[in-house]
Amino acid sequence: MRTVAFTLNGKPTRLTVDENRMLLWVLRDYLGLSGTKFGCGAALCGACTVLVNNDAVRSCATPMKDVDGKKVITIEGLANNVKLHPLQEAFVKHLAFQCGFCTPGMILGAYAFLLKNPKPTRAQIVQHMDDHLCRCGAHVRIVAAMETAAASMNGGAR
Ligand code: FES
Ligand code: FES
Repeated sequence: MRTVAFTLNGKPTRLTVDENRMLLWVLRDYLGLSGTKFGCGAALCGACTVLVNNDAVRSCATPMKDVDGKKVITIEGLANNVKLHPLQEAFVKHLAFQCGFCTPGMILGAYAFLLKNPKPTRAQIVQHMDDHLCRCGAHVRIVAAMETAAASMNGGAR
């Protein structure tokens, strides 16, 4: 056990945990942030994706020792108070989900990608999102939502 301190959705957070406990389970079980989903548990599906220092990481494979001193954002922290993030608005506009299980990970994976690639081509979006799985088959609408979000973000994160 050790104390791990990090910023979670803008708030300083300090926990004494097993340093090898995966971030996914700390978010869900200790901190009540159930927006981050457990899909495969093997860093393969993307359902558990969160941001660590604005990089998309698979929280099912990220031990707590790796977030010490860093900035973590989950889907609960993406909206700006009551206003949805442009990516969230675009997912709603395009109905880019069915069951919604993959959606938090999709949106955060998309967010990290658009931060680094503010004006992506459709091919770049498809290539980047290839390792985010959606069993409902919403991929075409997800790509369309990302194109809309990229245009409305206009190179900015928010
Ligand atoms: S649950 Fe982490 S990648 Fe699937
Ligand atoms: S919307 Fe159901 S898994 Fe993607």
